[in-house]
Amino acid sequence: MAVVVIVGAQWGDEGKGKFIDYLAKQADVVVRGQGGNNAGHTVVVDTKKYALHLIPSGILYDDTVNVLGNGIVFDPSGFFEEYDALKAQGVAVENIKISSRAHVVLPYHRELDGLAEAARGDAKIGTTKKGIGPCYMDKVARTGIRLLDLLKEDRFAEKLRAQVDQKNQIAQALYGVKPFDYQAIYDEYSGYAARLKGLVCDTVAYLNDELEAGKNILLEGAQGTLLDIDLGTYPYVTSSHPTAGGFTVGTGLAPNRIDNVLGITKAYTTRVGAGPFVTEQDNAIGDRIRQQGNEFGVTTGRPRRCGWLDLVIVRHAVRVNGLTAIALSLLDVLSGFDELKICRAYLIDGIECVDFPADLADLAAAQPIYQTFAGWSEDISGCTSYDQLPENARRYLAYIESYLGVPIAFISVGAKRSQTIIRQALF
Ligand code: IMP
Repeated sequence: MAVVVIVGAQWGDEGKGKFIDYLAKQADVVVRGQGGNNAGHTVVVDTKKYALHLIPSGILYDDTVNVLGNGIVFDPSGFFEEYDALKAQGVAVENIKISSRAHVVLPYHRELDGLAEAARGDAKIGTTKKGIGPCYMDKVARTGIRLLDLLKEDRFAEKLRAQVDQKNQIAQALYGVKPFDYQAIYDEYSGYAARLKGLVCDTVAYLNDELEAGKNILLEGAQGTLLDIDLGTYPYVTSSHPTAGGFTVGTGLAPNRIDNVLGITKAYTTRVGAGPFVTEQDNAIGDRIRQQGNEFGVTTGRPRRCGWLDLVIVRHAVRVNGLTAIALSLLDVLSGFDELKICRAYLIDGIECVDFPADLADLAAAQPIYQTFAGWSEDISGCTSYDQLPENARRYLAYIESYLGVPIAFISVGAKRSQTIIRQALF
C-alpha cells in the first residue's frame, strides 16, 4: 500500500502524462485533486494517442478507478466531450468517480475568463479560457455551485438564478456584453445532471476507505509548481495548488499518508503564457527545441516558449513539494546539440542567488549563471538502461542529481511507453 504524488516541477507541460501512465498501471486508484480541463496530457499507447484533460490517466487501464477529487473544478461539457471521445476510441470509461464537493464550471465562468483576459491587454495572463479562475473565484467567495447542488433540481435552480443575476451585473457593468441566459444554462446543465447521477459520490470517504483497505493510490498533478497560486510566479499562475500540499486538501487524504513525491522535469524548460523566463532561448536554439520536442500545447495548440534547464526552478520544486524522486522527460530532444547549458544560479543586482525569487521584478532582472556541458550526437531513443546512455548524457544527469540531492528515478527517451529508463520503484 502506498500513496504516490506526481507533480510538475516547472511551469507545466513537463511530460507528466507518460509517467502518470506508467505508475497508473501499478495503482488501484488514480486521482486528480486540483485544476480542471485546463490541463492536457498526451498518452501514447502503441500507435494510439489519447489526449486527456480532466479524466485521470488510469482510464487507459480497465481495472483502475479514476477519481476527480473535491479540489478540482468540473466542467461537464468538457468532461462529456472527453468521455465520449475516449469511449469512441474503445476505452472503457465506467470506472470514474467524481466528488460531490467539486465545484461546477458554468458558461459564465468561461465567458468571464475570456473577457477578463481581453481587458488585461498587454498584461494578460495567457489563461486557457476554460473558466478555471472565475470558478475558483466563486468557490473562494463561497457562492460557487457544487456538484451536490447540481444534482438537486430545486437547489440548483435557486443557486443558478442568483449567480446568473450577479454575473449579468458584472458582465454588463465591466464589459457591456449581452446577459447570460438563465434558462439555456439551466436546461443544458439539467441534461448533464441526469448523466452524472451514477458518477458522483463522496470521494473523500471513498479514498480513505481504499487507503485503509491497503490500495495503491496515485495522485496525478496537473500544471506545475510554478503555476501554483501561492508558490508560483504570481500573477502568471493558475488558480489552484498544483504542488504536493494541494493534494491533501484537494482529495481529503492527510499529508502523513503520502509516501513518495515524484517531480517531473523536462531536460530543458518551457513555458506557455506570459511572464519572465530566465533561461528562455528566443532564438535558433529555442526553435530547435520546440521543433524536436513538439512543444505546442495539447489544450490550446499554442507554441511554447523554450529554453535551457533551470535548476533554480527545480530546486524550488524539490523544496516546496518534498520531492523524493525526479523523472526527467524528453532527454532525447537534446541529442545533437554541440553544447548544452544548465542554469545553476541567478545573478540579481550583482548578487548570486539560488532561491527562486518571490518578486517577478527580480525574476525579470535575473541573469542566468550557466554550467556548460558537451552534448552528444548519438540517437538515445532506443536506450533501455542508464549505462547505455552516452557518457556526456550521463554527465548531464549526474550534475542534476548532485545539484538537487534527489535521485533521477526515471528518464524518458521517447514518447512511447517503452522508451523509459526505470531506475527505481515508487510503489
Ligand atoms: P488558467 O489555468 O486557464 O487560469 O491559466 C493560468 C495560467 O496557467 C496560464 O499561464 C496557462 O497557460 C497556465 N496553464 C494552465 N493549465 C496549464 C497546463 O496544463 N500546462 C501548462 N500551463 C497551464
